[in-house]
Amino acid sequence: MMYKKTQIMSTNEIKNLEEIFEAKIARDEKIEPKDWMPEKYRKTHIRQISQHAHSEIVGMLPEGNWITRAPSLRRKVALLAKVQDEAGHGLYLYSACETLGISREELYEQLHSGKAKYSSIFNYPTLTWADIGAIGWLVDGAAIINQVPLCNTSFGPYARAMVRVCKEESFHQRQGYEIMMTLCNGTQEQKDMAQDALNRWWWPSLMMFGPTDEESTHTAQSMKWKLKRKTNDELRQQFIDQTVPQADILGLKIPDDNLKYNNDTGHYDFGEIDWSEFWQVVKGHGKCNKERLNARKNAWENGKWVREAAMAYADKQHQRKTKQTG
Ligand SMILES: [Fe+2]
Ligand SMILES: [Fe+2]
Repeated sequence: MMYKKTQIMSTNEIKNLEEIFEAKIARDEKIEPKDWMPEKYRKTHIRQISQHAHSEIVGMLPEGNWITRAPSLRRKVALLAKVQDEAGHGLYLYSACETLGISREELYEQLHSGKAKYSSIFNYPTLTWADIGAIGWLVDGAAIINQVPLCNTSFGPYARAMVRVCKEESFHQRQGYEIMMTLCNGTQEQKDMAQDALNRWWWPSLMMFGPTDEESTHTAQSMKWKLKRKTNDELRQQFIDQTVPQADILGLKIPDDNLKYNNDTGHYDFGEIDWSEFWQVVKGHGKCNKERLNARKNAWENGKWVREAAMAYADKQHQRKTKQTG
């Protein structure tokens, strides 16, 4: 359909539309689903928004694993609420993505077939209760840093979804930090558990910001479209600068011997990230890649009867209504 439309448009007309589009972005105005946009903008946004949606949905799995084992009713309620929030984030984002002309079924199909990516952080296992603390503190903490600039991104539906998502992410970060705080004020064994979780989650959290700026293939274009407002390396540095003092308050040691405050730059210098691990996990060889995808595929297949029942019910309601009005 889109192909035909562009075919009947003259080159001049397209150039005009492109100029209007670029000018809007320059003025910080939002691009809305019905506005004309270059195909590449549409495709890049489908890729990024769906990847984000998949991450929210797959991201429920590592923590969902601990809902039944949360150590108190209060912890269980908070974790349950958090995991439900993530489901909500996934649903807003799928809806935002659908406004770009792709169906929910296609998006799911891309996830289930392994064609679409989701954040690699969720391919790591949650071994102890302290991991739930570390995830909230570090993973949701990193997510906030990634997502706050997206509240100003150029595509309207994405930007608006992010406002609420970010508010909820702050709650997630706090509940995680509070779990860590409680463990760190507890017995030596509890403190060791917190340290062990930090040791395992620290480096994968730094990888959440993506490859370094030199390696990142999409950064330049995404910055131009204001899909990205800061580069991967800038965001990673911001995360480190913000998180190190929080670790100090907990009395935990960040597992990086090269981590040191640099008086000249006003930032923390840090050690080399193991990018081979990052690419291994991205390529599907992380500890839990298979398990996570299988869980999603099974949920889709086992939920088929629910979707069918909901459709049948909606059909019946619709028929009843048309009978009444007709
Ligand atoms: Fe989320
Ligand atoms: Fe979250």
